[in-house]
Amino acid sequence: MRIKFTRLIAFVVVFANVIVIYYSLRLFVSFGGFQAYTPPTIKTVTKPATKHISKLVTIIIREFESFENDVSATVQSFLNVFPNIQVIIVYDSIPYPALDISSRNSSVKNVKGVNLSPSLKVPFIERYPVLSIKTKYVLFVPDSTRINSRQILQSMVSELTKQPDGIVVAPVSSKKELGCLRVNVNIREWTLKYSLIKGNVCDAVSGKHLALMETELLKQLPDPFLLPFPHSLYVQTSPLFVKSHHAQWKQKQVDNERLKHLYKLFQLKEVVRETGTTEWYGCTRDTPRCFGPILDLMPSYLFEGKWTPPCCLSNLRKTAKHVFNSLDEAGIRYWLEAGSLLGAMRSGDILPWDHDVDIGFNRDDLLRSQWLKKAKDKPVVDSKGFLWEKATGGNFYRVNYSKTNKIYVNLFPFYSKNGTMTKDAWFTSHKNMEFPDNFLHPMSSIEFVGRQVPSPNNIRDFLELKFGRGAIESPEYPNPSRLPFP
Ligand SMILES: *[C@@H]1O[C@H](CO)[C@@H](O)[C@H](O)[C@H]1NC(C)=O
Ligand SMILES: *[C@@H]1O[C@H](CO)[C@@H](O)[C@H](O)[C@H]1NC(C)=O
Ligand SMILES: *[C@@H]1O[C@H](CO)[C@@H](O)[C@H](O)[C@H]1NC(C)=O
Repeated sequence: MRIKFTRLIAFVVVFANVIVIYYSLRLFVSFGGFQAYTPPTIKTVTKPATKHISKLVTIIIREFESFENDVSATVQSFLNVFPNIQVIIVYDSIPYPALDISSRNSSVKNVKGVNLSPSLKVPFIERYPVLSIKTKYVLFVPDSTRINSRQILQSMVSELTKQPDGIVVAPVSSKKELGCLRVNVNIREWTLKYSLIKGNVCDAVSGKHLALMETELLKQLPDPFLLPFPHSLYVQTSPLFVKSHHAQWKQKQVDNERLKHLYKLFQLKEVVRETGTTEWYGCTRDTPRCFGPILDLMPSYLFEGKWTPPCCLSNLRKTAKHVFNSLDEAGIRYWLEAGSLLGAMRSGDILPWDHDVDIGFNRDDLLRSQWLKKAKDKPVVDSKGFLWEKATGGNFYRVNYSKTNKIYVNLFPFYSKNGTMTKDAWFTSHKNMEFPDNFLHPMSSIEFVGRQVPSPNNIRDFLELKFGRGAIESPEYPNPSRLPFP
């Protein structure tokens, strides 16, 4: 039943003659800006430039299912209206069953299939559809589309001549409105955010539609034919992406695996939908954390101009909260240390580029915690799945998020000696150096990862003792000599 219903919608689709361009996508913000415009009326449409549509536009069909599609009829419908128009059907492997487009029919000479997958028989140039497009514009057409008048395409072309660096889209069904979306790609924070907006200047549109753009634009995208289509297109044309070399929405046919692949390819780990729901494409408790070993205190992502992946920050917060609760229960005296205390002072959270959480605790209390006590001998997984261990090569402890995901919280044991809090093993790197014990008498507390956490008193002096003057106001990466803060 359900399948029938879907097909019905797909096949009934016909352009009403009166539909005009709904939206123009804003693109290339850097070139001359963009502004809202009023959709033109049909009367303004007939222009000399739009006469030879077949010479101006190449039709591209990208996304369809091999086992059940309507590509042949869709192509035929366009050929009926524009007999000489060039059509390119792009696929990842030869469709099987074969598409029903007879090459003997003289009217389909201008229809070409392009297989993107490498083959020993096919030269490089033939696998890259962008290289063989001769027309100024390309029109992306979704499967199961019918066209019954020249007018729609003419008005789209005429609209695009007004906004050459945009994309002009038109809905395929007169019944359904397209959704206009704002797309924010934040590469540094591995995040993609969609929001539904009013108006007709959008970063992406949802709903089945035709999309017309200059071939030149297509050539500038990192991977213009990536599936799922057209989602991948709009991720790539979203302003930030285009500017710095680097989306999506709800549509039932969209294959989740393809989306996952797309996000992975472009390293987007947090996707916030226009409905407000957040999807994670990053690491979980059962997968390794998404970055490798850390050398010189500087995780590799910092050198790529990125901050800590959002999933890692979230996992780190969970681990920290668990450790705080566990230490509270055991009655251990502890306080927030070093970079974590700095983050708490700045924003009540982990520094967005930090990769661990640092806690100091009173060595004399160690045996009160069953987990620390056990960890003295060998690593132990607690009842909630966190792994406690005595760190190799240092007299300190560590709690990993899980056995697999090794994002971690450090626990540094201090003891008091002649008025100074000191430790037996030192890592200058961690900035958890000696300090006068009056910073802990009395203890204070500070907001961190959503709760109050014990801290030294006089936090500013404490941090300036460790990091130098002005440390709270001027951010630095953990190892400024390797990479200055941007
Ligand atoms: C050939 O194409 C024309 C339209 O261009 C169509 O009407 C006709 O049915 C096609 N013939 C065959 C044999 O596919
Ligand atoms: C805990 O995490 C650290 C840092 O990622 C890692 O070096 C260590 O091997 C992990 N411990 C265990 C027992 O897996
Ligand atoms: C203890 O500290 C005081 C000053 O803080 C210093 O004069 C003294 O030498 C220290 N004693 C020891 C045993 O370190």
